[in-house]
Amino acid sequence: MRILSGIQPSGALHLGNYFGMMKPALELQDQGEAYYFIANYHSMTSVFDAAQRRQNTLDVALDFLACGLDPKKTVFFRQSDVPEVTELSWLLTSVTPMGLLERCHSYKDKLARGLSPNHGLFAYPVLMAADILIYDSNLVPVGRDQKQHVEVTRDIAIKFNQQYGEVFVIPEPRIREEVAVVPGTDGQKMSKSYGNTIEIFGEEKATRKKIMGLVMDSRTPAEPKPDADRNLAIQLMKLVAPAGVAQEFEARLRAGGLGYGDLKKALFEHYWEHFAAARRKRAELAADLDYVHQILQEGAARARAQARGVLQRAKRASGLE
Ligand code: ADP
Ligand code: TRP
Repeated sequence: MRILSGIQPSGALHLGNYFGMMKPALELQDQGEAYYFIANYHSMTSVFDAAQRRQNTLDVALDFLACGLDPKKTVFFRQSDVPEVTELSWLLTSVTPMGLLERCHSYKDKLARGLSPNHGLFAYPVLMAADILIYDSNLVPVGRDQKQHVEVTRDIAIKFNQQYGEVFVIPEPRIREEVAVVPGTDGQKMSKSYGNTIEIFGEEKATRKKIMGLVMDSRTPAEPKPDADRNLAIQLMKLVAPAGVAQEFEARLRAGGLGYGDLKKALFEHYWEHFAAARRKRAELAADLDYVHQILQEGAARARAQARGVLQRAKRASGLE
């Protein structure tokens, strides 16, 4: 089984990225042949600074490797090191109805937020379809907000196959419903674009400040809180603390007597501890960037060999070759 996912280098990775996409993807490394890549072409639709893209790309590589991506098992690469994907994307555009792209939530959300759309933003799901199809991927682990893009990929692949013969494998999205949406510091979905993130490898003081600033209500510590399970700090603690710990805090909150300040302090400690080993690993990797670049290059060579074969299949089937 081929497993594939990508993440854009559009800023520091946060708990939403980690629990929604990265951790499930890393857990799948043993279930099949995993291909994970840094979607730097896609980042061109929202990041317009070259130095920033270069830095973000390196940061994402460090984040993934520090969090447990095993380059012996997994093919790890930069999207743009396999330029064949842009060629395949062109082949797909003409079997992609405009309406399919116009209905994409992520595109519509950006329009609603007043972004003036460029063509890349509109065509984004077609390039994503090429990413997935060019590796004959069976399974695509992503957070819930990317599910529609995988469905678009399926539609495009089915359409191409109907037109030109059985060229593409039809992929399935894999969403972990229990962590499908990680809330941010304001209780909305955690997202770089909402400025409510807690980074995986945030600086200690700044992250403590963010966690102490989690939005709570104004009830006194003594008051029992029957809705303790919906408390933001409890929800985050369930992700970062060892089994049972969050439930204990939840019970104390429910009973009354636990102040929000103490709860948040405990949350910070668990967050810091949860990523302690990965933080050390990341520092080691950051001191050996040649090794990191070498992993990406080896990954690119393996990915490219695979991509060339599928692209050729699509070109032959459609009469380009
Ligand atoms: P952002 O919203 O911060 O820009 P991205 O859109 O780059 O994040 O998302 C990268 C990956 O992380 C996607 O697979 C997405 O589904 C997942 N993801 C992002 N935010 C969350 C969240 N709050 N909860 C769960 N998964 C998330
Ligand atoms: N659109 C994805 C995101 O923003 C990133 C991505 C690009 C991707 N190509 C992909 C994810 C292919 C999975 C498969 O998170």
